[in-house]
Amino acid sequence: MLHNLKSTGLLAYCRKGFEKECLQELQQVAGQYLVYGYSRIQDQQGWVYWQVSQGNANKLYADLRSDQMVFVRQLYLVIGEVEAESAKDRVSPVVEALQNCGSRFGYLRIEAPGDDEQGSLRGLSKKLVAPMSSAMKAAGLLTAKKDSRLPVCFVTCLTGQHFLVAAGAKPAMSHFEEGIPRLRFDPEAPSRSALKIEEAFMVMLEPYEKAFVLKRGQRGVDLGAAPGGWTWYMVSQGLRMTAVDHGALAPSLMQDADVAYVASDGFVYKPPKPVDWVVCDIVDKPTRTLERMADWLVHGWTRYALFNLKLPMKSRFDAVEACLQKLQQKLESAEVEAEVRVKQLYHDREEVTVIVLTAPFPDKSNVS
Ligand SMILES: C[S@@+](CC[C@H](N)C(=O)[O-])C[C@H]1O[C@@H](n2cnc3c(N)ncnc32)[C@H](O)[C@@H]1O
Repeated sequence: MLHNLKSTGLLAYCRKGFEKECLQELQQVAGQYLVYGYSRIQDQQGWVYWQVSQGNANKLYADLRSDQMVFVRQLYLVIGEVEAESAKDRVSPVVEALQNCGSRFGYLRIEAPGDDEQGSLRGLSKKLVAPMSSAMKAAGLLTAKKDSRLPVCFVTCLTGQHFLVAAGAKPAMSHFEEGIPRLRFDPEAPSRSALKIEEAFMVMLEPYEKAFVLKRGQRGVDLGAAPGGWTWYMVSQGLRMTAVDHGALAPSLMQDADVAYVASDGFVYKPPKPVDWVVCDIVDKPTRTLERMADWLVHGWTRYALFNLKLPMKSRFDAVEACLQKLQQKLESAEVEAEVRVKQLYHDREEVTVIVLTAPFPDKSNVS
């Protein structure tokens, strides 16, 4: 879709404070395609503009999927960087940058990833949509009505007069705005952690994959379950759960017929019978969590696992890599065929979420 676009590099959004890890991830994956570049990053900006100096960024972009990257939550192909000379006219320099870029667009989105929810750049991005759309339509760059067969044009506000102009298309582009699903907290959930597990199933699995692996009537175990947000979510999906924690669950869950509470150590508990899911939200050393999850998978105590890995203060990218290598080694030496996905979710702070699915895998052609 974007192979004729004149691009200068990639724009990735990430959690604020994880720009370095986001850049490391981009560089690692691009190196496999012999694409090289550079970036000046600042801490806490929430995005990385990686300028390509050698190789084909478009080809790389066509092969990437932001939903399968760890620190990258949204990904676009950059057309140009624009500094408006005056706050009175921000529209024409952007339209000028888009002229001759080699693409028409089916939709325009203006974003401010580095800004807080109520920030002034967010306000500006909203105000710019109408005049920018009109000018792009007048220049033949934007279709009159939304057309999802064409790429999306993104204007990213870095400051009030400094913009990155970019294009996005699936599968590299997440269909969630800025790569963040907007979830509504259900007041019946015992903790806000319920949003995290909901996000994991929404962002890390395609809907057909979720339908294949998460089904009514399954059984699951939640390690480190209290007060019970994850258990509550799994029960809401039709599972019967065993919740393991030294601390008590919310009273509503203690009385729930689909929940069995076990006051025990999550690193010692072993299910009497194999289950479909183990989920684990215990805050501990990542290697300890990983070893225990590997035990569950290798011994066949579960078919699927979802857990968090707490990140160290330094070398966070390397720490994730090391954990994943260790997990892969354990699974391979036990001849367990598995698909491993890792992502730093919007609801994750200093941690990443891991999903492991053992074979048989969801197959899109079998979707009913
Ligand atoms: C982050 S909270 C879990 C929140 C939970 N996922 C929810 O949605 O409400 C971590 C929990 O792990 C429990 N925990 C810590 N170490 C544990 C262990 N060794 N065994 C069992 N539970 C443990 C704590 O008591 C705490 O309730």
